Amino acid sequence: MGVRVNPRFRSVKGTRDLLPPESERWNEAERIARETFRSRGYGEIRTPVLEDTALFARSVGETTDIVHKEMYTFSDRKGRSLTMRPENTAGVVRSVIENGLAAGPMPLRLYYLGAQFRYERPQAGRYREFSQIGVELFGVSGPAAEAEVLEMLFDFLHALGFRSLSVSLNSVGTAATRASFGEALRTYVLPRAGSFGEDDRRKLAENPLRLFDSKDPGVRAALEGAPRTMDFLDEASQRHHEEVRRMLADAGIPFQDEPSLVRGLDYYTRTVFEVVSEDLGAQDAILGGGRYDGLVESLGGPSLAAIGFAIGEDRLLQVAPLAIPRRACVVVLPQRSDDLPEAARIAREIRAAFPGGCVEVDLSARGIKKGLARASVLFQEADARGLDREGVLAVLIGERERADGAVTVKRLATGEQETFPRSELARRLGAARER
Ligand code: HAM
Repeated sequence: MGVRVNPRFRSVKGTRDLLPPESERWNEAERIARETFRSRGYGEIRTPVLEDTALFARSVGETTDIVHKEMYTFSDRKGRSLTMRPENTAGVVRSVIENGLAAGPMPLRLYYLGAQFRYERPQAGRYREFSQIGVELFGVSGPAAEAEVLEMLFDFLHALGFRSLSVSLNSVGTAATRASFGEALRTYVLPRAGSFGEDDRRKLAENPLRLFDSKDPGVRAALEGAPRTMDFLDEASQRHHEEVRRMLADAGIPFQDEPSLVRGLDYYTRTVFEVVSEDLGAQDAILGGGRYDGLVESLGGPSLAAIGFAIGEDRLLQVAPLAIPRRACVVVLPQRSDDLPEAARIAREIRAAFPGGCVEVDLSARGIKKGLARASVLFQEADARGLDREGVLAVLIGERERADGAVTVKRLATGEQETFPRSELARRLGAARER
């Protein structure tokens, strides 16, 4: 749609600009997220983009793809190793400990929205700078926590218009489960690892669970029929998982068991989950999350249960059937620049009478005809701009109007127009908008 240009500067690979009207959809999704979370007692936390590199190595895990090869890490001028956050759970946990919240009243309910950075190969729905909408709930070790966050998540997804999504669910048990499962997995995969590349051989040696993150078809084939985390669960984790499933069924949350789901971050304990949309080409997840009962303690805080999820906002908006609420739009068209003060007064009056709509003044004031051309662009792009087609009106201040103390209101959808005394503007516009 845009004009062809040959810019000197381009956005950095894997990043992009979000322009209107697409940004309107993002704002609407974020508004719904905030409303949904706040109405359940979640407060917004904003943590810095920059964190100590060791924080991510310690939490997400040295051997994960994220820490091993995807972080934007650099030394600052004093030689400190800093990283632009690849995810927000680690920063939230750091903040919760540092600000004394981990020792405060529980449960602690937090949500966040913001940019994350991963040096990945860019493709549809995968960027190097992307946004997440996330939630973290601290201090609840029982399955009611899973039920609360997943029910809230689905309320949010429903509010965006999704109807047929379901959660893929698994349990990775405790640290001991992961260790014995990892060993069994290594034993199973080793004889089938002949064709593995260097990176997957490293994973096999260091942390076999990470093989599940591999996109290599050879690795995927080698994992077929592999042991499952479920077979290594201790009794308490098994019971927990059964209760989670029962509570989700009770809350009407659609889920299916996904025995090979382990998630690409090392901090998870027991419950892990993802939501995948078939409308996303590469079958990538819209969101992922899980329980991480050991993380707060391992980062120097008290022993504290926790669970959360993060939604990839870019992917979410790529597939969300979210329609933004339509707004009426009035364009005030002064014929010449002398009429600009009057046009501004009229715009002010309309805004006061109809808050929430959109009122624009044609500041070029180069004649009614040119002004109407601008109004008709708004009308033609009404859908994309979230405007109510029927509600696109032009208020004309031409020669005749000026002489008579009148205004003319034209409805772009039909071309109908009516001239009436200036003093009746608000009332007449109100009537016009009712139609
Ligand atoms: P994650 O699975 O790494 O989990 O990321 C969550 C979501 O972020 C993904 O499902 C995906 O939609 C989106 N995402 C990840 N990488 C990209 C990318 N390069 N481009 C676009 N979207 C992307 C976490 O980050 C955990 N912190 C989630 C969590 C919160 N677990 C517990 N609490």
